[in-house]
Amino acid sequence: MSTALVPGVERILFTEEQIEARIGEVGAQISRDYQGKTIKLVGVLKGSIFFLTALARRIEVPLTIDFLGISSFSNKSGAPGVVRIAKDLDESIEGEDVLLVEDIVDTGFTLRYLLQTLAGRAPNSLSVCTFLDRNSRRIVQAQVDYRCFEIPDRFVVGFGLDYNQLYRNLSYVAVMKTDKSL
Ligand code: IMP
Ligand code: MG
Repeated sequence: MSTALVPGVERILFTEEQIEARIGEVGAQISRDYQGKTIKLVGVLKGSIFFLTALARRIEVPLTIDFLGISSFSNKSGAPGVVRIAKDLDESIEGEDVLLVEDIVDTGFTLRYLLQTLAGRAPNSLSVCTFLDRNSRRIVQAQVDYRCFEIPDRFVVGFGLDYNQLYRNLSYVAVMKTDKSL
C-alpha cells in the first residue's frame, strides 16, 4: 500500500524507512546474541506477521518459524487480561531457543500469559522481541528482551497492527484519529 495517509489516520509515527532501519539494528543485535544457535521464531497471529517476516530477513543465524493465535476477553467486570490460545504451535519447542515475536506489548497481560504457557514446555531459552512497546500502560510486568520502538499512549495502526482488522497493510505506523471516524 502507498504511504499516502488513509482516512481515519491522524499522523505517521514511524515511516517505512525508519522501521526498516530499526529492524536492521535489532536483527543485528539478535544475530550477535544467538551466535552458534538456531532460533525458533514464534509469531503471535495476526499482528506480528509483518514484523516477523521483516525481522527474519535481517537475522543472520539459522532460524525456524512457527505461529500461535490467541483470543483475549474481558472478564465479567469488564477488566482485560483473560487470554487463551486459539491456535497452538505446530511443533514442540522443547529444547529450542525460542524468540517470541509480538506486535505490541501494552498492558502486558497477553505477554505474561504466553511466557507462562511457553515456559511450561521446557524450551532451552525463551526471550521476547516486540515491535512496539507502550510501557506507560503496563499493568503486569512481563519480560521484554528486544524492542524496536517505545510509543506514546495513543492507539496505533499499520505494519501489522489493526483497528477492527483493518490497516494492517500500511507500510508505516500511524496514530489513529481520536474519534476513529472513517
Ligand atoms: P496487552 O495484553 O494489553 O499487552 O495487549 C496487547 C495486544 O493488544 C496486542 O497484541 C494488540 O493485539 C492489541 N493492541 C494494544 N494496543 C494496540 C494498538 O495501539 N493498536 C492495535 N492493537 C493494539
Ligand atoms: Mg498481538
